[in-house]
Amino acid sequence: MSTPTVAPTTSKGLEGVVAANTRLSDVRGEIGQLIYCGYDINELAGKVSYEEVVYLLHHNHLPNQRELAELKATLAGYRELPKGVIELITRFPKDTPPMHAIRTGVSALGCYDSTADDDTMDAQRRKALRLIAQIPVVTAYFHRARQEKPLVHPDTHLGEAANFLYMIDGEKPSTEKESTLDLCYVLHADHGMNASTFSARVTIATLSDMYSAITTAIGTLKGPLHGGANEGVIKMLTEIGSLDKVDAFVHESLAQKRKIMGIGHRVYKVLDPRAPHLKRMAQVLSGKLGQPKWIQMSERIAELMLTEKNLHANVDFYSATVYYSLGIPTDLFTPIFAIARTSGWTAHVLEQLADNRLIRPQSIYTGPIGLKVVPVAQR
Ligand SMILES: CC(C)(COP(=O)(O)OP(=O)(O)OC[C@H]1O[C@@H](n2cnc3c(N)ncnc32)[C@H](O)[C@@H]1OP(=O)(O)O)[C@@H](O)C(=O)NCCC(=O)NCCS
Repeated sequence: MSTPTVAPTTSKGLEGVVAANTRLSDVRGEIGQLIYCGYDINELAGKVSYEEVVYLLHHNHLPNQRELAELKATLAGYRELPKGVIELITRFPKDTPPMHAIRTGVSALGCYDSTADDDTMDAQRRKALRLIAQIPVVTAYFHRARQEKPLVHPDTHLGEAANFLYMIDGEKPSTEKESTLDLCYVLHADHGMNASTFSARVTIATLSDMYSAITTAIGTLKGPLHGGANEGVIKMLTEIGSLDKVDAFVHESLAQKRKIMGIGHRVYKVLDPRAPHLKRMAQVLSGKLGQPKWIQMSERIAELMLTEKNLHANVDFYSATVYYSLGIPTDLFTPIFAIARTSGWTAHVLEQLADNRLIRPQSIYTGPIGLKVVPVAQR
């Protein structure tokens, strides 16, 4: 090992540390911009489907009609799960939190794939697309089984968002529901070197396998400081109960140094560019469903957090109200994030493999040195 020329320093939480070069996405925190492969998120939102974003992330350009049709057919064809995985996930205890079930289900998919350790790029790409197609199916089968409802098998005629809604509800979604979830998928597909993407890249950089990398990422996304925050938002809104109680709740939380879920971001110093899209959808949906109080409470929380702490709403803040208004159970919010982000995670895994080097940072030792072992009987 070469001798360091400058004394190493720690960046708690790796803030400001650059871990990789990537062509996939850029989070410009000072100006509130998010770019996927050259396209501003505001340019993509509402103009392209989730499948087009999958293609973009995996090929670095938007697909033409033929390429898009091929991708859709491939994803639809990959959806059905191995029997052993279906048996496993449908037998989990009914009260298993879905993120545990999905993490384990995705890991189990590796046991049924004879190419799990095939490291050729062709095999890696196939596994990436299979995972994008199968993670919603793992989620939906587990969700149906825990309610003791019959499983709804994937419909190859439906796109990714519509098929997921169909598989959890048992009926084809309205066009509005489908396009809402599709846009949510687009907005969640990738986000620079976020914690779960970083963990996927760390895992694959050891030349482990695609299933291990995505399992790692799911475990990392689950936490309330990352993808788990969207569930936390609904729990918080339910706990507050009504608009007139928002101010007291926020002030008390801040006084007790309790985090408000869905607010703040490590990189964005201004508004998260995904938030206005989600806010607009939340406004439309909660108005239609006759429950405008959720969006009114959310807007008041956001207003207070901006004036009191100069902190903005992030992607999880309004997506929670969107999913809630779509009638999606709260504990499927983070799984939906995982479903959409699998496109980004797998693209990052492929990018890491294309120019790999082991990711192995250092730490600064702060413990004692020179201790002598006292025999166990004398300790
Ligand atoms: C996203 C998040 C983890 C970023 O964390 P970070 O960059 O490590 O920032 P810190 O936790 O160090 O916060 C910096 C300051 O802002 C405050 N802060 C940050 N987010 C806050 C929140 N949601 N509610 C209240 N205060 C918050 C911290 O208390 C701290 O204040 P202090 O300096 O007075 O102690 C953090 O903002 C957070 O926990 N948000 C809530 C969870 C969430 O929505 N996660 C989804 C992210 S997309």
